[in-house]
Amino acid sequence: MLLSLYLQKRQFPLYPVKSPLPPNLKLQSKSGQIRPLTLPQDLYDPLIDYKSNIDSHTLPLKCSKPAAYVTTHSLYLSCNPNPLTPPPMAPIDPHSFTDSSHPLATHISLSLYFDFSSSTILASALLSLSSPHSGPISLDARSLSISAVLNPQTLSPLPFSLSSTTDPVKGQSLTVSLSNLSQFLIVFSTSPSSSALQWLSPPQTFGKTFPFVYTQCQAIHARSIFPCQDTPAARIRYSARLNVPRQLAAVMAARHVDRRPPASGEAVMACDDAIWCGEGRVVEEFVMEQSIPPYLFAFAVGEIGSREVGPRTRVYAEAAGEVLDAASREFAGTDEMIRVGERLFGAYEWERFDLLVLPPSFPYGGMENPRMVFLTPTVIKGDASGGQVVAHELAHSWTGNLITNKTNDHFWLNEGFTTYAERRIVEAVQGEDIAALNIGIGWRGLVEEMERFKDNMEFTKLKTNQEGVDPDDVYSQVPYEKGFQFLWRIERQIGRPAFDEFLKKYIATFKFQSIDTDMFLNFLKANVPGIENEIDLELWTEGTGIPSDAMEPVSNIYAKIVSLANEFKLGRMPREDEVADWRGQEWELYLENLPKSVEASQLSALDACYRLAESKDYEVKVAFLQLAISSGCRDHHSEVERTLKEVGRMKYLRPLYTALVQGSGKEEEKIFAKRIFLEARDCYHPIAQGVVESILSKHL
Ligand code: BES
Ligand code: ZN
Repeated sequence: MLLSLYLQKRQFPLYPVKSPLPPNLKLQSKSGQIRPLTLPQDLYDPLIDYKSNIDSHTLPLKCSKPAAYVTTHSLYLSCNPNPLTPPPMAPIDPHSFTDSSHPLATHISLSLYFDFSSSTILASALLSLSSPHSGPISLDARSLSISAVLNPQTLSPLPFSLSSTTDPVKGQSLTVSLSNLSQFLIVFSTSPSSSALQWLSPPQTFGKTFPFVYTQCQAIHARSIFPCQDTPAARIRYSARLNVPRQLAAVMAARHVDRRPPASGEAVMACDDAIWCGEGRVVEEFVMEQSIPPYLFAFAVGEIGSREVGPRTRVYAEAAGEVLDAASREFAGTDEMIRVGERLFGAYEWERFDLLVLPPSFPYGGMENPRMVFLTPTVIKGDASGGQVVAHELAHSWTGNLITNKTNDHFWLNEGFTTYAERRIVEAVQGEDIAALNIGIGWRGLVEEMERFKDNMEFTKLKTNQEGVDPDDVYSQVPYEKGFQFLWRIERQIGRPAFDEFLKKYIATFKFQSIDTDMFLNFLKANVPGIENEIDLELWTEGTGIPSDAMEPVSNIYAKIVSLANEFKLGRMPREDEVADWRGQEWELYLENLPKSVEASQLSALDACYRLAESKDYEVKVAFLQLAISSGCRDHHSEVERTLKEVGRMKYLRPLYTALVQGSGKEEEKIFAKRIFLEARDCYHPIAQGVVESILSKHL
């Protein structure tokens, strides 16, 4: 049997091989020649020919002392009668209690009863392993009440323990003890503080009549909905039955199977049969047949309607109000983007690409939930610029959802690749100038992050060490923009045609796998021989700061905007004829290129001319308001307050709250920020509440 093997210099000598080594196999070269691995030299060579028809799924390491023989071309396995030594227990992800010596669940079947009156879900989860297991298995949990763990066949209880302490980052571990079982059933409920869920009361919705609830699981919030091995290294398939009030509809990032009356016996212990089958309830059934990392689990329940916008795309949103009409106009070009994506990156593997526009409190611009991307309504601006966010989330269908970062330490593999892929789609659909503007805005963002992390340079690296760190706290543009710059640098080195071919092959090779930075680098070195002599790969992935071979975009329009911004510093306002054809992104780039603090009178003059504080485009409005606050100009405080109360997208909350509370001599602003947060807090998603709380607590 042929297997792909990845040599990891970090884990050597205990773990030179990360692929499945069945008990009685050893390695031998293709040509029949055998040579022992010479260490450490071999580890720095691109030893592996990834082309060689490899069965490349990665399974847990099974032996502590594999006999590995390697040629420069490929690896073969043959019999070795040595018995296995069980590997020691070890966490596989700094953000999870999942243990390397435990098997991974491959399927989860969920029964979820939505109780809007208490903002909780009464639930059960049937976890399946690929083979029977005896011994402990540890799962992640947060804000869950576990009432029982059962043998699903006999319904007899299984021993379990929920850690009595809660780790501030990881939450609690739920350890179940199995004896020769491949399935176990957990009966539990969520709590109103479950961090993945935002429960909106009727007055907080557009329609004002019905409640609404939705999820945001990335980075590590799936564990607050159901106990699971909440690491992207553990891919799962799932099925789900959502029991909801009849007036509401449920959508999921999964295939919709049925909407029907509840049936007796299918609650699977989630709640009493009588409650499950109560008056006025319906069951919506879904399946996700492709294996996904848990952070891609997603649903929304509410008064939701939809419109067809393409052959494989519908847009969903709250049925009341104008959102649906505006959204279907905004996203009319989606199928063209999917086709561009297919041409550049290979087949679209998820069948449908639907869009769900959420209430304004959605904490991100977009979230790449498979088959159904979640979007903030702030991307609907009436000028097709929401296309960039859609291009980004669509690009994740290849980079992120097909190939997934193994842990958040390698988050750049998701976002850097996706930012690169997004810009290729934007370039194809909207043209090179718009793509260059986006690269320029990204460049400014990257430069600013260097300032933010100047005392914590770890987070200016691509490959990070997030042990003990909450990924929400270190979320930044670095994985996006430095990751983009790294890939763009490789493109410049080898030329676009070769890079395009490389990308397609990378995706085809690793699809439906979770990988780390070293796996990418080994693949790069194997497929672009000598690349390590041209580009300092280690500096790019493990070094801090911006490498000197990174680059600002070259484009006339970009250069023009930057030079106008420089002239503003000398007191010259852009003339009307110079900005006549500017849309949001041009203004955004202009504002991002002004100094952090400018003359308040100059800002007022700019606003008097171009009304930036009241822009309908939140990117422009927030960039302007941030500048106004940090320039000590208080004219726009009422606009700041309105903005912080009408949207919950963290991209806007972070800079505005930070500008208000950062620095000295800001007593009035600090009191102002505290009051607004007190009043607006309940409207924010729990993740956003946490992020704002940590900004305020750092500075107050
Ligand atoms: N996957 C991210 C959002 C995310 C990242 C959620 C980390 C939780 C933890 C998504 O694809 C994203 O990057 N969204 C951007 C869109 C933008 C780059 C076009 C956003 O929300 O701003
Ligand atoms: Zn993304």
